[in-house]
Amino acid sequence: MQTVTTIAEVRSAVAAWHAAGARVAFVPTMGNLHAGHIHLVSEARKRADLVVASIFVNPLQFGQGEDFAAYPRTLAADQEKLTAAGCDLLFAPGEREMYPLGRDGLSFVEVPGLSDILCGAFRPGHFRGVATVVSKLFNIVRPDVALFGEKDYQQLLVIRLMVRDLDMDLEIVGVPTVREADGLAMSSRNGYLQTGERQPATELYATLQALAAQIRGGVRDYAALEAAATAHLEQAGFRPDYVSVRRAEDLGLPQMNDRRLVALAAARLGKTRLIDNLLIDLD
Ligand code: PAJ
Repeated sequence: MQTVTTIAEVRSAVAAWHAAGARVAFVPTMGNLHAGHIHLVSEARKRADLVVASIFVNPLQFGQGEDFAAYPRTLAADQEKLTAAGCDLLFAPGEREMYPLGRDGLSFVEVPGLSDILCGAFRPGHFRGVATVVSKLFNIVRPDVALFGEKDYQQLLVIRLMVRDLDMDLEIVGVPTVREADGLAMSSRNGYLQTGERQPATELYATLQALAAQIRGGVRDYAALEAAATAHLEQAGFRPDYVSVRRAEDLGLPQMNDRRLVALAAARLGKTRLIDNLLIDLD
C-alpha cells in the first residue's frame, strides 16, 4: 500500500485508475484503526477494483473541550492494518494540506435538520465539520463508492442527505457495526475507558437490546421505554445524553405505522462519550 500526504498525489493516482476503467472505493477514517474500520475496507474490496482509505483527525468536527488534542494518532500501526486488509492507497494529509488558510472563515457544508438533533444537539457544529471534511475528501478522491459504518448512524444519514441534496455522483454504502465479543461497539474512543469502566460499558448495547425486545414484543410507549433505559444507564454509572427511538429512514419521531425503527443512545462513562444504536425491523 502506498501512503500519500498531498491532494495532488491522490488526484493523480485515482485519475490514472479511472482512466484505466477501474472502479474506486473510499473509506474515510480518523485513524487508530480497529476491526470495525478494517471491515469497511474488506467490504470496499468487494465493491470496487481499488480501495482508497484516508486518515485525518478533522479539527472542524471537534467542539470546545472535546478530545481533538488527545485523539489517538497511530499511523504506523494503521498502515500495517490497512496493508493487511488489501487497501491500495492511504491518504494521510496534515492539517495544513486540508485547511491551508486555517480553520476559520472557511466555506462549509451544512445539512440542516438532521444535524441539529440527537448527537448534533449535544455537539453543536459537529455534523457541519463532518459534512465539510467528507465533501472535501470526496472532491479530492472522487470515488465511485464510499463506505460508512452504521455505528455512527446519524453521520451515515447526514452523508446520504448531503450526497442527495448536492447531487454528488457516488454511491454511499452503510456497513453494520462490528462489536467486541461482549457486545460493546468497537470505537477508537473505547481506549479512553479506565479499567473499572470496561465491563459497565457493555450496558450501553445491552440496554438498547432490552429496549428493542420490548418494542418487538409490542410496546409502543416509546417515551416510557426511553425513560426506563435512561434510568437503567444511570444506575450502571453512565451520564446519558439521550436514549431515543426514531424512524430508521430519517430519524423522525416514529408514528404508529412505522416499521423500520432505530434505537440510539449516547452516554458518558467517566471521561468517555460512547454512542451506539440498534436497528429494529418490525416486518
Ligand atoms: P472514525 O470514527 O474513524 O470512523 C471511520 C468510519 O468507521 C466511519 O464510517 C464509522 O462509522 C466507521 N466505524 C467506526 N466504528 C465502527 C464499528 N464498530 N463498526 C463498523 N464501522 C465502524 O467517522 C469518522 O471517523 C469521521 O467522522 C469521518 C467520517 C472520517 C469524517 O472525519
